[in-house]
Amino acid sequence: MNRRGGSLPPLAEGFVPYQVERLRQAFPILAQRIYGKPLVYLDSAATSQKPQAVIEAMSRFFLEENANVHRGVHYLSLRATEAYEQARAKVQRFLNAAHPEEIVFVRGTTEAVNLVAQTYGKVHVHAGDEVLLSTMEHHSNIVPWQMLCEQSGARLRVAPIDDSGELLLDELERLIGPRTKLVAVTHVSNVLGTVNPIQRIVELAHAQGARVLVDGAQAAPHLKLDVRALGCDFYALSGHKMYGPTGIGALYARRELLEAMPPYQGGGDMILSVSFEKTLYNKPPYRFEAGTPNMVGAIGLGAAVDFLTGLDPIALAAHEQAVLTYAQRALAALPGLRLIGTARDKIGVLSFVLDGIHPHDIGTILDREGIAIRTGHHCAQPLMQRYGLAATARASLGCYSSEQDIDALLAGLAKVQEVFR
Ligand code: ALA
Repeated sequence: MNRRGGSLPPLAEGFVPYQVERLRQAFPILAQRIYGKPLVYLDSAATSQKPQAVIEAMSRFFLEENANVHRGVHYLSLRATEAYEQARAKVQRFLNAAHPEEIVFVRGTTEAVNLVAQTYGKVHVHAGDEVLLSTMEHHSNIVPWQMLCEQSGARLRVAPIDDSGELLLDELERLIGPRTKLVAVTHVSNVLGTVNPIQRIVELAHAQGARVLVDGAQAAPHLKLDVRALGCDFYALSGHKMYGPTGIGALYARRELLEAMPPYQGGGDMILSVSFEKTLYNKPPYRFEAGTPNMVGAIGLGAAVDFLTGLDPIALAAHEQAVLTYAQRALAALPGLRLIGTARDKIGVLSFVLDGIHPHDIGTILDREGIAIRTGHHCAQPLMQRYGLAATARASLGCYSSEQDIDALLAGLAKVQEVFR
């Protein structure tokens, strides 16, 4: 089974194994030494490293194409506009959205969720209505809904998970009712790595007339995405998690929903005409992109999409799963280590706690070995509370992660345990 519930096709004859060492050469930062030790980057869930192709596309934009988009009649403005709109079309194809107009450029997943809460949510969520989340949501898929509930008098409900970190679908189904206006759920948990069954969640929500927003920040770098197959109404992603730059992301929304949504912010480019008496708004997606956009960010995101789609998705998935399995087995065998998040369907996020050692101490000692992991609550405090923890250590994988990285992590953890013996 692959991670979206389907069967992986058999490997083609003459299949070339994933060449992680070669791929790593595309990421200049990985060649660095930190405190004299080779960098072992295991924090891709926080932000991914950037391939040369993304860096070059962005510097080429500044060197050769920079001008404001949608505004000028001059050569550079037209060229910048074309590049910006091409980036939108790349994101459309990456998500298999039906139309480029269904892609709104935003700062990232956080802004995408806020946009939906403050536009679609403001119109459709009223006192007595409900918004349903899951226990494993990132703060960015909790707080905007909490704000909307406070403004509207609606109620926030939460679908629970089991100890392995899988959503309890029966409970989720029980919680969706005629009052549910929106289900907002993550595709992949940033703490547990769990891949949620989005298609099934969408079926359950749509059967009750509720819309579904999917936080795809952690899914986009790992899964082959198809918003039409998922059937979701909204899908949000962040460029910097998927080998692109920070400050850019995308919101997918079905065209008929976007067309009926009021603007998010007011300003230039989101209007058709302005007078002091009345403003007529532009059509989507421009209605939602007020002000000069992050043009170079969009170009970088487009290059990241090219990079990701240029990787063989079957080989990439097989590689990432192999490193994950290797890491899970090795970590589970370490005395005193407990893995948090052992769902059957998961991607390369390894949260753990070590008996008697604070996660921040683990992170600090590993850092001196050149090993970068994240420690803390990972912007998911309600999930931490579910496990009775204040913090975990978290190693997270990217396309460039290898079994050697895991070996280095294990050697580092042995040093951590030595210090606290
Ligand atoms: N959401 C990011 C993480 O999980 C920052 O680390």
